[in-house]
Parts: sequence; C-alpha cells; structure tokens
Amino acid sequence: MEKVVASAPGKVILFGEHFVVYDRPAIVSAINLRAYVEAWKYDEPGVWIRGRRLSNHPASRAIEYIFGKTGFTSGISLKISSDIPASVGLGSSASISVASAATASLLSLKKIDIELVKAAAVEGEKIVHFNPSGIDTTIALYGGGGVYRKSSGFMHVDIPLKKILIVNTGRIRKTGEMVKRVKDFMEQNKERFNMMLEKEEEIIRDAFDAFKNMDLEKLGKLMLENQNLLRELGVSSMEIDEAIKLALDAGAYGAKITGAGGGGCVICLVDEDKIERISKALSSKFKTYLTELSAVGLKEEKT
Ligand code: PMV
Repeated sequence: MEKVVASAPGKVILFGEHFVVYDRPAIVSAINLRAYVEAWKYDEPGVWIRGRRLSNHPASRAIEYIFGKTGFTSGISLKISSDIPASVGLGSSASISVASAATASLLSLKKIDIELVKAAAVEGEKIVHFNPSGIDTTIALYGGGGVYRKSSGFMHVDIPLKKILIVNTGRIRKTGEMVKRVKDFMEQNKERFNMMLEKEEEIIRDAFDAFKNMDLEKLGKLMLENQNLLRELGVSSMEIDEAIKLALDAGAYGAKITGAGGGGCVICLVDEDKIERISKALSSKFKTYLTELSAVGLKEEKT
C-alpha cells in the first residue's frame, strides 16, 4: 500500500510570544526536535490511528480541511512519532498538524501544496490555541528563523545563534487558557497593555541589533526584560521563576519563557563553554535539552 511520510520541526520563540497575538513582531526559530507522520490511504472515510477514529484533534482537523478542498473521499491512517514534548511551548501540535496536513496533500494531490498545508494547519491549531497568531504553524512549515508578524507573515532573517538551552519545567498547560489570561489582562489594563506592546517592539528592535553583533550580554538583558513583561501579563509561574534563577546563578546571560508560559519551557542564553555547568545546575530539578536553532522546515521523508 502506498505510504507517505512527512516531518516538521518544533520551535522556540526567542522574543515576543503573546504580543504576537496582538499583531506585534516576534523572533522565532525552528529547532532540531521534529514530529514525523507516516500515512496510508484507508478504506473507511475519516482519520484513523491504530484502528481508532481520530476526531477533534489538530491533525484530524487539518487533514479534513485538505480532503474537503481536494475532494479526496477515502480515509487516512496515521502513525505519529515526535521528539517534541507536548503542551510545553515548543510547537508540538503545530508540527504534527503541518506534517499531517502534508501527508494528506501527498495522498490526494501527489505533491505538497504549501499554501493548502498552511491553511489546513491553522484550522487544526484553532482547536488548541483559542486565537492562534499563526507563528507556530508558519515556522513548522518554513523552518529556519526570522521575524513573524500576523499581518505581514514571516520573513527569514539569519539568526547567528547556533544553539539554545531549553529547560522543561514539566508543568503542562493549555495555550488557549494562557492566551485568554492575557486577553483578560488586556481588557482590564488597556493603557498599560498598550505601553507594554510598545516596549515589546522596542525589545525586538534592540534584539535584532544585538544579534547583528552577537552581543550575548545585551541579548540576555533583553530576554530578562521580555520575561518581566510576560510575568506582568500573568503567564509566568513558580517553576519558571525558579528555572530562570538557577540558570542565571549558574552563569546564563539571560532566560525567559518560550511559548505560552504558565509552566512549559524556559530558554536560556548560554556560552558554549558554560553549557555543561548550567545544564547540571538545572538538571537536579528539570529536564534540559540543548537544541540547535534554524532547523529545516516541513520535509517529505523517504518511505
Ligand atoms: O503554543 P505555544 O505554547 O507554543 O505558544 C504559542 C505562542 C503564543 O504567542 C502564546 C500564542 C500564539 O498563537 O502566538
């Protein structure tokens, strides 16, 4: 039976999560943790995993969107495997949606239709995200790194940083709930929120300058400023604050939430020669991953 396979990367948001929902820029990079989806045509209509029908899931929603557009009437059977821990801010569901949508495109059109996959994956993300900015699906699709803005899309910008240390606090949370929490904050603190949006844009501009000169000290400071804004929005947590403190005490330049917060993951900016020391300081409490940045985006894999 014809089998198709696609993979897509997870991501870290280096600067600008949550504010990106309000059409501000964010700096984002794909990471070398990936989700893989194998797929076959299935006799029964619908999306199936190990003989059970999958519904109300980002992958099934994305695939149904594609089949609706292409008129494919058979079903699809999937096998999903992923290196990306789920529900901790690394874009796991978006990469699964993108890779799943790509397999649906391969089965029904014999090619990956990028625009169709993009639209389908955004549909899938609506299930988990409440009001997705589109950043997760965009970076899973295109890979690399750069700046994303809701109204103008993605622009590749070379991010000279090669690696980032990710700390998983182990607390899973729902992105949609965090996005709603920020919406509540915005509604109750309109004036302050507008000032925070301006401040975030300034941080992003300064971060691009600092990237140009690879000024890690400056980048670290900017990360902490970004983190202060996220804390004020109410999306930090005890575990996040603890992970950041441990990282800074062990010599990190800076650290912040990546993704929706409320738990999830923290990224730490570290010198290569201090990585071991900092990982060790964190690993008594948390799981750490040293990940490579600017990984490739959606890829059709050999079967
Ligand atoms: O789902 P996460 O944790 O990777 O967060 C996505 C980033 C947010 O800015 C919080 C939401 C969005 O849609 O941009």
